[in-house]
Amino acid sequence: MSEKAKDDAIVKIFDTTLRDGEQSPGASMDVEEKVVIARQLEKLGVDVIEAGFAASSDGDFESVVRVSKEAKRPLVVSLARAQEGDIKKALKAVEHAKRPGIHIFIATSDIHMKHKLRMTRNEVLDAAAWAVNYAKKHIDYIEFSAEDASRSDWDFLVQVFSEVIRMGAKTVNVPDTTGYAIPSEFGSLVGYLVEKTEGSDRVTWSAHCHNDLGLAVANSLAAVANGARQVECTINGIGERAGNTSLEEVVMALKTRRSLFGVDTNIVTEQIYPTSRLLSQITGIPIPINKPIVGDNAFAHEAGIHQDGVLKQKLTYEIMTPESVGIPGNRLVMGKHSGRHAFSERLKDLGLNVNKLDMNRAFARFKELADKKKEVYDEDIEAIVAEEILRLPGQPDRYELLYLNVNSSSNAIPSATVKMKVDGQECIDHGTGDGVVDACYKVVAKIIGSRARLVRYSVKAITGGAEAQGEVSCLIEDGGIQVSGQGTHTDIIMASAFAYINALNKLEYRKHYRQMVAKEGP
Ligand code: KIV
Ligand code: ZN
Repeated sequence: MSEKAKDDAIVKIFDTTLRDGEQSPGASMDVEEKVVIARQLEKLGVDVIEAGFAASSDGDFESVVRVSKEAKRPLVVSLARAQEGDIKKALKAVEHAKRPGIHIFIATSDIHMKHKLRMTRNEVLDAAAWAVNYAKKHIDYIEFSAEDASRSDWDFLVQVFSEVIRMGAKTVNVPDTTGYAIPSEFGSLVGYLVEKTEGSDRVTWSAHCHNDLGLAVANSLAAVANGARQVECTINGIGERAGNTSLEEVVMALKTRRSLFGVDTNIVTEQIYPTSRLLSQITGIPIPINKPIVGDNAFAHEAGIHQDGVLKQKLTYEIMTPESVGIPGNRLVMGKHSGRHAFSERLKDLGLNVNKLDMNRAFARFKELADKKKEVYDEDIEAIVAEEILRLPGQPDRYELLYLNVNSSSNAIPSATVKMKVDGQECIDHGTGDGVVDACYKVVAKIIGSRARLVRYSVKAITGGAEAQGEVSCLIEDGGIQVSGQGTHTDIIMASAFAYINALNKLEYRKHYRQMVAKEGP
């Protein structure tokens, strides 16, 4: 098979969870968290990691630098506007990557050119060609995106894409920036561009869809059917507004309907579920229970007729297996008699990244939980591992919970007494609130003198039964920095306190980091 034929049989997966995904309200991640996600994306087998928009902030610049140093196989790219300053920053940020790239974009729709850019078509055409030509002197791999392509004039797009290909772009991307397109229309647009653009056969055509009408995956598949060989997507479909194309959905659609599309991806599909869970743990954004592929109900058969059919032959109602996306078949696994070996084997089976894990601590926490619960489920283990991995290396926690007592009754004001260690010093205080969680959070904030605002709080029972572990995620904000915290415990109030203190510790690190960057540069 020729190289070209081989390339045509693969749809590359460009993951933008760390860039467009992070633009999702409430999804901000710090540098360490992005590195953890990037490692998992590499394990998942993505072809390209868009690690950030280097010129947009010092934090984004640093994230691109760190992910560039970390990734071994995938291309690492930074987004850049078609401007010299942005391109220089992007080039600098990816300079340590084994496979560096840059992703230049400019809007091409009349509505964006007139109102946002205040540029004419000719000016946009010149800026796009200039930017790719300039970048090409410094780096080989360039992707070019025509922002708002789906609302742009088709022949103007042909002109712009022909020009950037002439200047050396290797991938040309067709974004449905506003999620406006309909699959038949978007497929036709991609087909038209592939046919009419000069040099079209020298580049990879890519689709980047948003989900405002719930059509991002359908539009991406229509693009593939019409010649696109790269899809841009995010884990769990997170992203601006209604999100981006969901990686797990598009990949499993291509795999499940392979005979229709005739293409493969490089994704290790068994890593889909662990990646989805990890992102949800880190961002605190829950996975909807009915989310295709990774939601709790995605493989749950409730109706009697369905259960009967599946027991007789899975194919009756299952178009893919839970195991193929990494959902462990055997959910009830471990208990207090399980040893260290069984524990570490289970971590491997779950596809969890154990490189940075302090196994002694993780195992000790597992044993502690196993003493409290008869059965420890996979979700319990994942929660322990995610929390342990997220502990920042070399950074001792400033705040530690030593004791918590809450009181609530129908005729008394809810109150909490909290004892904490703050920078090694023991402190205790008492206070009231609208509920016991509110009281506990107010006392913690009083003890450490925090002015952080609670933006979001969610509780999930991560396993069933009366002794279920509760997983609490909260998002707090202070001085423009948002961080999420997670806590797990069989007692929801304890889990809430752990989540809040976890977030406050991360906030400290983020503030510290911001000061360091201000002093020394990124
Ligand atoms: O949605 C969009 O148009 C983008 C581009 C920068 C590719 O995210
Ligand atoms: Zn986008």
